[in-house]
Amino acid sequence: MRKNTPIALLGLMATVGPLVVGAWPAATQAAASAGNLLPNPSFEEDTVGGIRGWNSQAWSGQADARWSVASSGRTGNRAATIRSERGSDAAWTATVTVRPETFYKLSGWIRTQDLRGAVGALLNIQNMQHVRTPAVTGTTDWTQVSTVFRTGTATELEINCLFGGWGASTGQAWYDDVSLEPISIREELTATVTGAADAETTPYSPMIFGGFLEHFGRQIYGGVFEPGSSLADENGLRKDVVKALRELKVPIVRWPGGCYVSGYHWEDGVGKSRTPTDDMAWGVIEPHTFGTDEFVALCRLLGWEPYICNNAGNGTVEEMRAWVEYCNGRDGRFAQRRKDNGHEEPWNVKIWSIGNENWGQHEIGYKPIEQWAPLVLEAAQAMKAADPTIQLTAAALPTREWTLPLLKQAGPYLDYLSIHSYWLGLWQDNQMPDYLTCIMKSEGPEELIANYVQVLRESGYRGRIKIAFDEWNLRGWHHPGFPRKTVQDYNDPEVKRLVAAREKNLIPSQYTMADALFSASFFNACLRHADDVAMANIAPLVNTRGPLYVHRQGIVRRTHFHTMAMYANLLRPRVAETTVAAGPLAHVDRIIPLVDAIATTDGTGSSWAIALVNRHPSQEVACTVTIRDVPLEGLYQTTMLSGDSPDAYNDIEHPNRVAPERTQMTFRQGTGKLPPHSLTILAVPAP
Ligand code: AHR
Repeated sequence: MRKNTPIALLGLMATVGPLVVGAWPAATQAAASAGNLLPNPSFEEDTVGGIRGWNSQAWSGQADARWSVASSGRTGNRAATIRSERGSDAAWTATVTVRPETFYKLSGWIRTQDLRGAVGALLNIQNMQHVRTPAVTGTTDWTQVSTVFRTGTATELEINCLFGGWGASTGQAWYDDVSLEPISIREELTATVTGAADAETTPYSPMIFGGFLEHFGRQIYGGVFEPGSSLADENGLRKDVVKALRELKVPIVRWPGGCYVSGYHWEDGVGKSRTPTDDMAWGVIEPHTFGTDEFVALCRLLGWEPYICNNAGNGTVEEMRAWVEYCNGRDGRFAQRRKDNGHEEPWNVKIWSIGNENWGQHEIGYKPIEQWAPLVLEAAQAMKAADPTIQLTAAALPTREWTLPLLKQAGPYLDYLSIHSYWLGLWQDNQMPDYLTCIMKSEGPEELIANYVQVLRESGYRGRIKIAFDEWNLRGWHHPGFPRKTVQDYNDPEVKRLVAAREKNLIPSQYTMADALFSASFFNACLRHADDVAMANIAPLVNTRGPLYVHRQGIVRRTHFHTMAMYANLLRPRVAETTVAAGPLAHVDRIIPLVDAIATTDGTGSSWAIALVNRHPSQEVACTVTIRDVPLEGLYQTTMLSGDSPDAYNDIEHPNRVAPERTQMTFRQGTGKLPPHSLTILAVPAP
């Protein structure tokens, strides 16, 4: 079962794992189970110096690992345990014979004491490294972990009760009641969704419906900003784009990058005399006709909160401080510069990011965490000196190794941590994976957020520092050969060829129902973690992989535009605890629940909006919905997005092939039919 309250979410991560086995009806799981294949699974039988059926081994820190049996287990008298004081990467390992091309469930119980330093304690498979349960870290009571996988060609598996990784784990972990069982996947086209009482509702941040605009491709120039176009206003802003973006009720937009910002010097883009400069990240010449003044004006026009990401790549701390003063100061040289540029009143830009992806070797001004944490501290102090009221985020990775040292130094100054993810890495090679391959990524956001919440908890900052998921999208942008740190010759035919290849991001047929439904699951994951995720910014908002395609003569709303509009306009302001139990959808080596859902309500529980995603490419699902113990009965207003096929897309010739329909859905004894590959938002008056 999947629930969305913080406590149940932790339970989800620990007890269900990435593949959400527990979300299936019991009948589906139990069928054809041939029992537990692991020897001595409760570790009750020992041998001289060991445990029957299990071998101790270490990949590093051998001398520091201590393998033993503990005298009290979760069940029975014993548990297997591993301890290390100075750091180890160790395991108890059993080898078992399995059937090829068969789904198995690996599960067990883990307890930890002061387990720190690397990935934590988990179950994994040595010869199938991608198969692993979630990790348990810190000091945690018995926690169930599990994962489901398909064997492929493997006929023998080395199952590890794993302690840490990279030789860095210290502390102790106990393992008990481990199990490896074959499972059969029977198609069960049903789901139940239960919205609990409104006493348990949580307000969520509307900033999760935010956007991102980078000086890349035709996002700014030829996207929102096209002076001289017959469709532009007197400031060069495209009126049709502005009108369409209003439909998304976007609350906040991050700008100007992205990788671009790590070579961007804001002073080049303000005032009357602006000279084009090199864009080293993306290999083009930046005209600087759109800079801070124009961005803030666009934000004011559209009611967006401006969110400025500064240059922590080749920029200086003084440059970061001066940018805050330029935007928000009343006095000082840079505040005066703003006034001279015609903006007497400070803009009060509230949210700023220190850097973009400075953890990555691809970034101009890449820095390892040892350099990054002190720089963030110094930058934060300087920026807050210019305006103490600003909120700050900093480039981060969703890992302990990055987050813990960063927060140790700069935590008191930060309000958010910035994380990014694109689930299909198409940077070098622009493929178009099929619908099911895409849809199997849909649980990725949930896994990433849940893991990161655990890291935040460990840091002690959970509750005070929130997640800013300030770049996300199903598909990574296509930019072969880039980003770069230097470009010798902008007219080099090879550079021109690589820049032109980015036009492949614009091929309309790429943006199908997979994008629409993945985006719905992304929002559902943020909503389930409403206590922790305060902001999310689709990357980007316009062109490239964004929801709005802008061409010279007009615009096309891509499929995920409609998802965003439906969520931002139709959901109610609070998330109710939502339990989802759904049949399985299996593809290659992954299994995910067929249905994803979230229930939202108003402050009084008098009106509800429930988002229901049927991920099946071709089958409708009988979905039983119960709100506050009352099964739905009768006709309900719905807004539904499904297209005429899972691969349906919009283009210039057919801009409305995929569009939301206002319709009605009948429920009998709680059960209604969700069409294949669909997103439905159901309006439910108070039961
Ligand atoms: O692929 C686009 C880039 O993705 C953005 O510039 C950067 O922030 C991220 O790596």
